[in-house]
Amino acid sequence: MRTVVFGSQGQLGRDLCPVLPGEVIPLARVDVDLTDSKAIADRLASLKPNLVVNCAAYNFVDKAESEPQNAFAVNVWATRTLAQACQSLGIKFVHFSTDYVFGLDETRQEPWTETDSPGPVSVYGLSKLAGEYLVRSICPDHLVIRTCGLYGVWGTGGKGGNFVETMLKLAAQGKPLRVVDDQRCTPSYTADVAEATAKLIETGAQGLFHITNAGDCSWYELAKEIFRLAGVNPQLAPISSMEFNSIARRPAYSVLSTLKVVALGVARLRPWSEAIRAYLERRGNES
Ligand SMILES: NC(=O)c1ccc[n+]([C@@H]2O[C@H](COP(=O)([O-])OP(=O)(O)OC[C@H]3O[C@@H](n4cnc5c(N)ncnc54)[C@H](OP(=O)(O)O)[C@@H]3O)[C@@H](O)[C@H]2O)c1
Repeated sequence: MRTVVFGSQGQLGRDLCPVLPGEVIPLARVDVDLTDSKAIADRLASLKPNLVVNCAAYNFVDKAESEPQNAFAVNVWATRTLAQACQSLGIKFVHFSTDYVFGLDETRQEPWTETDSPGPVSVYGLSKLAGEYLVRSICPDHLVIRTCGLYGVWGTGGKGGNFVETMLKLAAQGKPLRVVDDQRCTPSYTADVAEATAKLIETGAQGLFHITNAGDCSWYELAKEIFRLAGVNPQLAPISSMEFNSIARRPAYSVLSTLKVVALGVARLRPWSEAIRAYLERRGNES
């Protein structure tokens, strides 16, 4: 088994590469820029992997509103190129997507399943949804895995850090914090998502799956739990999305049901608060 992982230097890519079986070839932007379709095709034709995993993405949710062409270059067109190359070379393609493909239905209060119709409310969400559809229509031997609120010890590539680190940094600066309390999702630890992804690949399944930690919370509740577990006590107040006034709109409720992947025999991931605790411990040990 030979696997090529694109986006290997991102937070999910870094946790996924070590848990995949067989020979794993990690590729970063310096190896292949995904906006270069010839480079993708040439590299896959020469490496001849059995499996391609794409952890790369344009993840700047707010910036995407003013530069949709950059978001689409990676999340749509590069994804199409990867799907086409995998299809023509007979390679299984594993691609990641997001809970931000949902949000249009503002009344929703129960976890979204894989059969629910998406409705993105941002350029980023739209670009990721278009990427999903291209993979599903071009390359029959695929897994599209939607996940949510990722944080990992490596931090996101371009953005640097992650929500947990941002909260701890701001708390250390002694600033009063105001965090959004009307957006619910499931913060998910990249190490846990990586383990479950490896198990899902092992089952040989194809199709669309949701993988997140268990339970759900608002960003405010997440911040509160991070501070409780880290033993710090900053001034923290809940605010609404309207008050926060971010450039891109975000879903009010984007909790993903993981029943489909669990039914395949992939163990339900631990609750999000236990995962935060594990993250804080690992971070402490590695610093
Ligand atoms: N982060 C989240 O909260 C979240 C939530 C739900 C779903 N997801 C999805 O989960 C997957 C993994 O996300 P992540 O948080 O691990 O992302 P990440 O840490 O931001 O990593 C993304 C990687 O993609 C690379 N990349 C971007 N443009 C590229 C290009 N043109 N050519 C080659 N590489 C390029 C980046 O390289 P550079 O470092 O060189 O820019 C970076 O290493 C993505 O599909 C994302 O959409 C993420």
